[in-house]
Amino acid sequence: MILVLLGPPACGKGTQARNIARHLGGTHISTGFLLREAVEQRKPLGMLAQRYVDAGELVPDDLVISLVREVLQCGDNSGPAVLDGFPRTVSQAQALDAFLPPDRVILIELDNTEVILRISGRRMGPNGESYHVLYNPPPQGLVAVQRSDDREDVVRERLEIYHRQTEPMLEFYERKGLLCRVSGKGSIEEVFDSILPLLG
Ligand code: AP5
Repeated sequence: MILVLLGPPACGKGTQARNIARHLGGTHISTGFLLREAVEQRKPLGMLAQRYVDAGELVPDDLVISLVREVLQCGDNSGPAVLDGFPRTVSQAQALDAFLPPDRVILIELDNTEVILRISGRRMGPNGESYHVLYNPPPQGLVAVQRSDDREDVVRERLEIYHRQTEPMLEFYERKGLLCRVSGKGSIEEVFDSILPLLG
């Protein structure tokens, strides 16, 4: 089973994708995490991607598509895969359809004001997990840091790019009858509860 989670920056894709993968016994695949890891480890992909990630722009389609294809082909494909942050353009959606068409596409909707609130309090754990200083504090003693692309000017660019480049892709899945919308408002548990019936 291939499940795609979509939505604006900080709508809760990563938080919910982890919970869904745990619930289904599947794998959580976050392109944002994989790209940040490649940048930190100075891999060739990271060198190519860094300037886009730092500026809040989309990394070119060909790079992201081959990254996801590699992960899906190399990993253990027996269980469900939860894709978080991929696809983000019509080209990426078409490419995914060609090698592993998704079974469900869930859009987590959240308005810009709430996005800014969530991003300003977000802190990242060592394994790419998201915490929030108020809503989901990191466990005591764990070192959680702010993401470099969570600066206000970069966040505004990420939001703008989401509306301009990713929203048009939603029609692609709407026409296929695959798109389900859930509200990202409410607690992490409330959002998860509204996703659960869509997983059956
Ligand atoms: P990526 O890492 O995917 O960033 P994003 O899409 O902007 O999403 P975020 O990771 O910011 O947020 P999220 O929705 O996962 O929210 P989270 O669960 O953390 O991508 C980063 C960059 O990589 C892109 O800008 C681009 O450059 C590149 N990239 C990635 N994929 C690409 C692709 N396919 N093509 C091209 N380029 C690509 O939650 C946010 C905060 O809110 C946290 O603090 C969390 O604890 C808190 N929270 C979550 N849910 C709730 C809730 N219900 N109530 C209260 N707080 C909550």
